[in-house]
Amino acid sequence: MNYRHSFHAGNFTDVFKHIFIARILLYLCLKDSPFRVIDTHAGEGAYDLYSEEANRTFEWWEGIGRLSDLKNIDGNLLSLIQHYLACVGIDDKNQSLAYYPGSPMIALRLISPQDRAIFCELHPESSSRLRHRFARDKRVKTLHLDGYIGLGAFIPPKERRGLVLIDPSFEQKDEISLLWPSFLSAYRKWPTGIYVLWYPIKNLDFDRKLCAKFFKHNISRTLRLSLNVGGHSDGLKNTGLLIFNPPFTLEEEAHILLPFLTHVLAQGEDAEYQIDWVIREDKIGGWS
Ligand SMILES: C[S@@+](CC[C@H](N)C(=O)[O-])C[C@H]1O[C@@H](n2cnc3c(N)ncnc32)[C@H](O)[C@@H]1O
Repeated sequence: MNYRHSFHAGNFTDVFKHIFIARILLYLCLKDSPFRVIDTHAGEGAYDLYSEEANRTFEWWEGIGRLSDLKNIDGNLLSLIQHYLACVGIDDKNQSLAYYPGSPMIALRLISPQDRAIFCELHPESSSRLRHRFARDKRVKTLHLDGYIGLGAFIPPKERRGLVLIDPSFEQKDEISLLWPSFLSAYRKWPTGIYVLWYPIKNLDFDRKLCAKFFKHNISRTLRLSLNVGGHSDGLKNTGLLIFNPPFTLEEEAHILLPFLTHVLAQGEDAEYQIDWVIREDKIGGWS
């Protein structure tokens, strides 16, 4: 395992992914009953933006760095991103950014005392950092465990409400062959959970292959969001989220959030976004 998220924390893919995760968590918080967050590939929980690793790539400059000094954001849009910005520490006090919260930290900043979180991380050092970071938070269980095993073990959660984030590093040549059976068996055990799967779009074939699986297994209600920042860099430019059982408000929110993110995070004039359903109960998509 070579991947360390500390080189990439706060980059455009994190901003894209975390804004939508924050929206889903806030939606879950609307009801009084407790829920659970299961983060199968949790990383370290939070990241120093001035660490040696971050300073080697400066990826966050093209991500959260672009959001840190925005002025005059439209009120409707601001209402959709302000909780995320608060998690990051961007507020009207004009503090400079020092840390970027990973998905575990964002979850813990938004959920209530009654809610619970399970974080799995397989890299020994990242896992140890994660455990130490949240050791005193009684809502949390951190595990040095393969997230796909965790998915099998902790689903369905006893609250029967919650969010599963599957955010692999895609280091394995065929990560889909690991991911897909775990997701499918989790889905069969708990079809009413909200699942978010992040993936890099290195080529459209990969995107099609993944979406075709949802289509083939007739998994309805899967919202697909993608953001391509464009430009000429050799690094990752295009990224997607498959959101299974999204809150009913999310598609409409995506139509406000994605044009904004495409504009703010663009690295070239060819930046673009997509919002579609892999398969819809009333409309069969074209992924076969
Ligand atoms: C993209 S990062 C996670 C970022 C994190 N979810 C966030 O948004 O802040 C992927 C993480 O998965 C870990 N990882 C890779 N394979 C894993 C596996 N099979 N089970 C659990 N963690 C794994 C990597 O060490 C890395 O920390």
